[in-house]
Amino acid sequence: MQQILVVQSSARQNGSLSREYTANLVAKLQAQHPEAKVVTRDIGANPVPHLDETLLNGWMKPADQQTDADRAADARSNELVDELLASDIVVIGSPMYNFGITSTLKAWFDHVLRAGRTFKYTETGPVGLTPDRKVYIVASRGGRHQGSPLDHQQPYITTAFGFIGIQDLTFIHVEGQAMGEEEAGKGRAEADKALSELAA
Ligand SMILES: Cc1cc2nc3c(=O)[nH]c(=O)nc-3n(C[C@H](O)[C@H](O)[C@H](O)COP(=O)(O)O)c2cc1C
Repeated sequence: MQQILVVQSSARQNGSLSREYTANLVAKLQAQHPEAKVVTRDIGANPVPHLDETLLNGWMKPADQQTDADRAADARSNELVDELLASDIVVIGSPMYNFGITSTLKAWFDHVLRAGRTFKYTETGPVGLTPDRKVYIVASRGGRHQGSPLDHQQPYITTAFGFIGIQDLTFIHVEGQAMGEEEAGKGRAEADKALSELAA
């Protein structure tokens, strides 16, 4: 075990449940793997750039036609892919915003779902190139959405990681946080239980 990558995508630093529960989870993982280095990518605080023409040039234009800006955008993007590939365990803090993931997490996926690096096109369709690894996702939600057709968070994350070859996902749900004190407490108790079972 060499590296644990933590991707935080809540827009808030204070009162964020995804940050709180990912921190608890990471503490447990560190106790299990004291030798592992923890790398945090806080895209809630420091969003990665959206895809733009410069970056697409960096990815797709022949090298001799690229500008310095194209190459710099490509290098920044490669850093995110390298960070993912170098990590044995990935922990994602994912609040549900408007039924899906945050736009900051979507932008991160836009960088790491990369042709030629994490997947490739073949005659029979795209194939993942990323060796499988453990991914934990703390999904915090105001409502309760597990199994609901309104949940575009868990299915998207599952599809995106599956597309590049990562299948070993565990979701920890912190739900019901905008449904009153009792439901919020129940949602936290369920998340606490899920975390304690993980550590067992
Ligand atoms: C802009 C915004 C949109 C949200 N949209 C949803 C939603 O569609 N469904 C839901 O259940 N909760 C929604 N919520 C509630 C959050 O998922 C909930 O507050 C969660 O705890 C946020 O994660 P955090 O505590 O890590 O910041 C939304 C919150 C914000 C700020």
